[in-house]
Amino acid sequence: MRSVRAPRSRFGRVTGGLLLALVVGTQACSRPEATIQNHSFARPDEVVMKHLDLDLRVDFETQRLSGMALIEIENKSGAAQLHLDTWALRISRVELDDGYEATFALGDSVPLLGRALIIDIRPETKRVTIHYETTRDARALQWLSPAQTRDGKHPFLYTQSQAIHARSWVPCQDVPSVRFSYHAIIQVPTDLLALMSASNATTKTDDGVYAFEMLQPIPAYLLALAVGDVEHRAISERCGVYAEPSMVEAAAWEFADMERMMVEAEAMYGPYRWDRFDVIVLPPSFPFGGMENPRLTFATPILVAGDRSLVATIAHELAHSWSGNLVTNASWDDFWLNEGFTTYFERRIMERIYGRDVSEMHALLGMDDMREEIADLGPEAATTALYVDLSKLDPDEDLGSAAYEKGYFFLRMLEESVGREAWDAFLRAYFDEHAFQSMTTTRFIDYLRDQLLAGDVERMRELRVDEWVFEPGLPPANMPQPQSGRFAAVDAQIAAWDAGADASALQVEGWVSQEWDHFLTHIASRMPPERMADLDATFHFAQSNGELQRSWYLLVIENEWEPGYAGLQEFLVTVGRRWLIRPLYAKLAESEWGGEFARRVYAQARPGYHALTTATMDAILEWPSASH
Ligand code: BES
Ligand code: ZN
Repeated sequence: MRSVRAPRSRFGRVTGGLLLALVVGTQACSRPEATIQNHSFARPDEVVMKHLDLDLRVDFETQRLSGMALIEIENKSGAAQLHLDTWALRISRVELDDGYEATFALGDSVPLLGRALIIDIRPETKRVTIHYETTRDARALQWLSPAQTRDGKHPFLYTQSQAIHARSWVPCQDVPSVRFSYHAIIQVPTDLLALMSASNATTKTDDGVYAFEMLQPIPAYLLALAVGDVEHRAISERCGVYAEPSMVEAAAWEFADMERMMVEAEAMYGPYRWDRFDVIVLPPSFPFGGMENPRLTFATPILVAGDRSLVATIAHELAHSWSGNLVTNASWDDFWLNEGFTTYFERRIMERIYGRDVSEMHALLGMDDMREEIADLGPEAATTALYVDLSKLDPDEDLGSAAYEKGYFFLRMLEESVGREAWDAFLRAYFDEHAFQSMTTTRFIDYLRDQLLAGDVERMRELRVDEWVFEPGLPPANMPQPQSGRFAAVDAQIAAWDAGADASALQVEGWVSQEWDHFLTHIASRMPPERMADLDATFHFAQSNGELQRSWYLLVIENEWEPGYAGLQEFLVTVGRRWLIRPLYAKLAESEWGGEFARRVYAQARPGYHALTTATMDAILEWPSASH
């Protein structure tokens, strides 16, 4: 039986040919031939950014942010220059401290990284103010017309800074090992509300001016801004949702468990250190399921499914408040420290609230993802290891699901080896002791050896820690095996279906989304049209949540089942979440009719997608793009 399941890689990987030599040529103000570290031009070991004061005006007419960024620095080495990251910013003027005009230069443009902004400073310089505006090429910004929003009346703007796009709207040290606090003043049209990854208003101001504070130091990839006609609904004292007016009630209902999730998370791994936890539901073009912007998670509207079936993503983004936002991967090579820990923590939250049988189903679906991705990329592929040398790769395309799922199973293996009690105490101390700091893979391994395993090197070898972390391919044989009686029951129905039973004869009472997903991805993927019609008429997958629609439309494509095309087209045009649509385009592109269909639909859908989504899909469909 061949499964139709496409690898669930969250981040694409279609840019195999895009290996870039990240080497700066000789240029004024720059070390000649210096190799760029960590996807950044910054040199935080010389001068480091400590605080940011933003003052920006949001102009929907010209689709520009303009104003200034005041950066407070600490000059650790008496350096004569400050190096910042920028991407397609127009810099008009730079001042030092109290208004001294500074000389500055922009380095050559480097693919993927943008341009270094090199500012001459004095040893005693404390503040640097950059007057600038963004341009059409700002990769972090998506400007939506009213028609691209749910309610259709007002324009919308949101940012997506992870992994290396903060530099396209704020000149900064755009590297996750540098943390800074920030304040911002943002001016927007008076009919819109502005929100950031900071302290937020819940209602609009009369003058369209909003002030923000983020007192805890954060890395640049967590800088975030959203501007739109949204309302707030409280879920608890410290939790709530923002969404467009027609969706805000539904969103509040969907995410009603947010407070419980916080309580359970805190019970395991210590206090939530960001004060509030709100979620904003964005328009459908948002390229991710969720993004853990501190205090304000950004979410796709797909999560508002009407049945609370996709709340694991909220648990995931909440978990990042510890793993990622509090203890942060020092570079994108260590991305698994963010996502693997978060996937582990997410499933622990799910287990405490919804039960072990639910979290085990999630773990099994995750295991399928991991296996499929490794099969797809090959067991030697570097990006199937936890630690990945990304120095020549695009972090936005090449961070695969290994970080999530292999990371999850590695941590679960450790838990099962030492017992939950010892493991939880270890993890809690890990978060406490490294709060507001960054972490590298090697430092974590040392900490693990010393704190969890009492320095026992032999035990480290037994647990095969190095293999887990540094070797590509499937995990070692000590990988834990999730157990699910519920999936075993689904397997029996899969066997019945594959043996020819009618859809109406299947025992599906009480199935939740994960059971349906398991069903759709494990039934024999080829079937005659009347069998597709039977599934469709009995179970209405085209009306189910976005994740199930994805699995269903993969079957539609595999079987070239024409009655499903209209729904498929609608899905591709209205959904911008990359993880949901990438496998559909990839599968379509495998056949001739599919390629034609995909290109026709894509022509219609592309203007509505985010730049991160079009970058991935352009490569899959060999679309002529006007990129850099
Ligand atoms: N931080 C990620 C999203 C991300 C990763 C953006 C790398 C840019 C670069 C977020 O927490 C995430 O993992 N989102 C997942 C949610 C899912 C795993 C529950 C997504 O969007 O699919
Ligand atoms: Zn995540």
